[in-house]
Amino acid sequence: MLDFIKDKKRTHYAEKISNKNVGENVTIMGWVHRRRDLGGLIFVDLRDVSGKIQIVFHPENEKVHTKAGKLRNEYVIAVTGKVVLREQGNVNKKMTTGELEVEAQELLLLNNSEPLPVQINENVLADEDLRLKYRYLDLRRDKLKDIILIRHKIVYAIREFLVKQNFFEIETPMLMKSTPEGARDFLVPSRVHNGKFFALPQSPQIYKQLLMIGGFDRYFQIARCFRDEDLRADRQPEFTQLDLEMSYVTQEDIFKIMEELFKYIFKKVIDTDLQIPFPHLTYKQAMDRYGSDKPDTRFNMELCDLSDILADSEFKVFSGALQNGGSVRCIVASGCSGYSRKQIDQLTGKAKHVGGKGLAFVKYLDGEFQTGITKFLSDEEKKNIIKKTGAQDGDLILFAADKNKIIFKVLSEIRNYLGKELKLYDPKQFNFLWITDFPLFEYDDENQCWETAHHMFTLPKEEHLKYFETEEYDKIEGQLYDMVCNGMELSSGSIRCHRLDIQKKIFDVLGFSEEELNDKFGFFLNALKYGTPPHGGIAPGIDRIVMILTRAQSIRDVIAFPKTLQATDLMSASPAFVSQKQLDELALKIVPKDKD
Ligand code: AMO
Ligand code: AMP
Repeated sequence: MLDFIKDKKRTHYAEKISNKNVGENVTIMGWVHRRRDLGGLIFVDLRDVSGKIQIVFHPENEKVHTKAGKLRNEYVIAVTGKVVLREQGNVNKKMTTGELEVEAQELLLLNNSEPLPVQINENVLADEDLRLKYRYLDLRRDKLKDIILIRHKIVYAIREFLVKQNFFEIETPMLMKSTPEGARDFLVPSRVHNGKFFALPQSPQIYKQLLMIGGFDRYFQIARCFRDEDLRADRQPEFTQLDLEMSYVTQEDIFKIMEELFKYIFKKVIDTDLQIPFPHLTYKQAMDRYGSDKPDTRFNMELCDLSDILADSEFKVFSGALQNGGSVRCIVASGCSGYSRKQIDQLTGKAKHVGGKGLAFVKYLDGEFQTGITKFLSDEEKKNIIKKTGAQDGDLILFAADKNKIIFKVLSEIRNYLGKELKLYDPKQFNFLWITDFPLFEYDDENQCWETAHHMFTLPKEEHLKYFETEEYDKIEGQLYDMVCNGMELSSGSIRCHRLDIQKKIFDVLGFSEEELNDKFGFFLNALKYGTPPHGGIAPGIDRIVMILTRAQSIRDVIAFPKTLQATDLMSASPAFVSQKQLDELALKIVPKDKD
């Protein structure tokens, strides 16, 4: 027979009970985490959102003791009893409340539970698919629960800080017009206007700019964004940004407010003092030194350009790459000359995986180069390589020769892998930096057209406006910036194009026809005509901030109800088919895709 709460009130959370409460009567509510029946005494660890405390049931209180004997794991109970100190020998140092226990006087059984399909006990972590299916149970696990609570604290700290800085929190629509913004849109068919679609926002970008035009000159939103793109360890189809925009600001103003915000969050949530201001690297510096626009600067192992030294190389791979307008660059893996053939093959595999043709190497051992491509290098080249790279005896030098784009992909991949493998950094460190001076446009070789490197609403640098006239679009840099931490892009932003004439030039380069432009962006271009203040902003990914703060390896661990890498929800089994009636209302017909 189950009990009801009636007039019973919780007086304490389990883990909030401390030595100060000894002698007091408390009422706590939660789950039976574990039950031990020692013949006479019965012990139950009661668990709630705060943590756990031990309850003891004495046989003298016969009615309650008998009831306690029937408890099983994950039954939901309310217990009233007296807080007492445990005897010295029984103190459990592993529990926060390990010096205490509650002597039960009353026990309500509020609900029972079937045996769980996934265990809450951390030691037996079930397969992730099963845990995602029963996500509500997995959320009871300490580790996951703690991350979700940290996420709450982060969002709370963000609101606290920004409201104090005179920002207004404003919501923007979830149903909006489909506008090309980089990724693929999630579409929502209209029932009222058959054949027409809304899109879910990839970000509130256009709306936040419209809010600047609308006069709210400091805006923020904890904004849900939707992108139908291929997923990775740090990407979800549905994710959250702290979206922020300000009028009358420069790039430096935005850096300052973000640095102060992050300092506030880190202090408030994990009591860590972040060093601000963050260092800066230009996009070009970041690529040259680390091969990445989101470098992990917790360790060195920087790239070294050997193109001048190897200009006349007899090694075809090198000379070929140089003749094709590429370069030859290397990284030095310190103390790795003992790497086996297998280990080097593994590195080569990684290079190929990201588009490289291979990974040439030499071992610098006993004062000379050995194995790998040693035989192709002249003494002069060897000497210069040692001089330029600063390689030491015992090192392994890894070379990539190709177009720069490929080399950067290959060497940054290998660098990140080796950084982790060789434990070159302290995982507790937080290395923030700003990457600035991004190019505004990138040429898409495949589709033979110009694309924006970040987004199309960015103001070009004033001194680069002349390149629009000379059509040297690759020389145009935007007032664009990313905030990076430990190798992860945390935030992206820019100073926006508040001038209609410049915005139109950008759309021109991107190849939009007048008709397309009016159709997709007419409302926005129109708005720019009516006294648009200069403005700029940024959007840190909240999921990624939580990953950094909690050192979570997967973005799924920082979201209460995430999607799988295949963009499905295993718990509710969605996406799912809908009824014919629903399809008819939307005037939609499903046409099976031809199987290739
Ligand atoms: P951007 O597209 O660079 O910029 O996104 C900003 C930040 O959002 C996070 N992010 C993601 N997090 C999880 N899953 C994803 N699929 C995902 N995609 C992006 C990242 C990223 O740095 N409107 C602009 C911002 C601006 O210019 O103000 C924008 O959305 O942390
Ligand atoms: P191969 O001449 O193809 O046998 O390659 C000789 C060595 O050069 C091997 O170690 C390859 O992994 C490496 N290699 C091949 N192509 C490249 C490249 N583009 N950049 C760097 N190393 C390469």
